[in-house]
Amino acid sequence: MYIPSSSRYSSGMQYARCGKSGVLLPKVSLGLWHNFGTLTPYDRSRDILLKAFDQGVTHFDLANNYGPEPGHAERRFGQILHEDLAAYRDELFISTKAAYDMWEGPYGNWASRKHLIASLDQSLKRMGLDYVDLFYCHRYDPETPLEETLQTLVDIVKCGKALYIGISRWPLEALKVAERYLREHDTPMLIFQDKLNILDREPIVGGQLEELGRNNIGFISFSPLAQGLLTDRYLNGIPEGSRMTEGRFLKSSTLTPELLSRLQSLNALAHERGETLAQMSLAWILQHPQTTSVIIGASSTDQLMQNLTCLHSAPLSSEELQRIDHILYGK
Ligand SMILES: NC(=O)c1ccc[n+]([C@@H]2O[C@H](COP(=O)([O-])OP(=O)(O)OC[C@H]3O[C@@H](n4cnc5c(N)ncnc54)[C@H](OP(=O)(O)O)[C@@H]3O)[C@@H](O)[C@H]2O)c1
Repeated sequence: MYIPSSSRYSSGMQYARCGKSGVLLPKVSLGLWHNFGTLTPYDRSRDILLKAFDQGVTHFDLANNYGPEPGHAERRFGQILHEDLAAYRDELFISTKAAYDMWEGPYGNWASRKHLIASLDQSLKRMGLDYVDLFYCHRYDPETPLEETLQTLVDIVKCGKALYIGISRWPLEALKVAERYLREHDTPMLIFQDKLNILDREPIVGGQLEELGRNNIGFISFSPLAQGLLTDRYLNGIPEGSRMTEGRFLKSSTLTPELLSRLQSLNALAHERGETLAQMSLAWILQHPQTTSVIIGASSTDQLMQNLTCLHSAPLSSEELQRIDHILYGK
């Protein structure tokens, strides 16, 4: 029987307020996109999840289609939750999402009222939950009227199936409409989720981060380690069993000789700081004032523990930040 560590809230996890809400999120959250599907042994998923909770990670990020097979991550999470964590439900902040491809036919994806409500009902059933803490619209739907999507999100909160609403990967103009609509309908947007890491700065370039700062909305970064590129995983070749060998979401063609050489230089800088590349990369994201949390993935408890050390990183100096940009962009 699992008994959580009694030091889970005193062993170094830090919690940040999410925008101007009442919610505190751990600065490091755990995502279940990978490592909770049919390809991963149940015990390994369980070990990662429970180890995370033992370290004060209270936020777990899911989506309807995480697997493989789609839905399996929610099912496995639900099983671990009910077998090990049932007594701790109120210590957990659980998110799920809808809008990407989930089932066949015209209602199995995108952001109609029909899809979002049916998908959330399915997610709750798979996880064995009455409600999720946070429900996201996973992507912007250019065809469905924004008011339909946004009113559905409001209604989902009003009927108690989710406590808060988040938006993931929306372009700036749609984000602005969403922020206003949700605020005016008494369901303020809790958080925006997008990819931000040393290699990929889309929400900075696209203006979303600045907009969130202006409106005091939380921000959470996904794929903060660029799916493993910003770790030592690929510095000496492509190891068997890595995400790149699986090849579905991280292709070996990404790892060009130029990128490898830049990663090696970043790694050298991290070592000068007495850190791993993963640790420095996560610290870089957390240093942005708008960042509430980073959602890491981990295929082992060792990776999880290594990544949590970012909480003890010294701030990157302006000279170090410039060196990172110089390594990547030559400026
Ligand atoms: N909103 C969206 O559209 C969206 C999109 C993508 C992800 N997400 C969310 O973000 C979460 C995290 O995404 P991600 O898994 O891509 O995050 P990530 O942290 O960038 O990558 C995780 C992967 O990197 C490798 N890794 C991690 N730490 C390592 C370490 N210390 N040393 C060596 N390798 C290490 C592992 O790959 P190996 O398998 O090779 O060991 C691990 O599975 C997802 O689970 C999901 O919740 C959201």
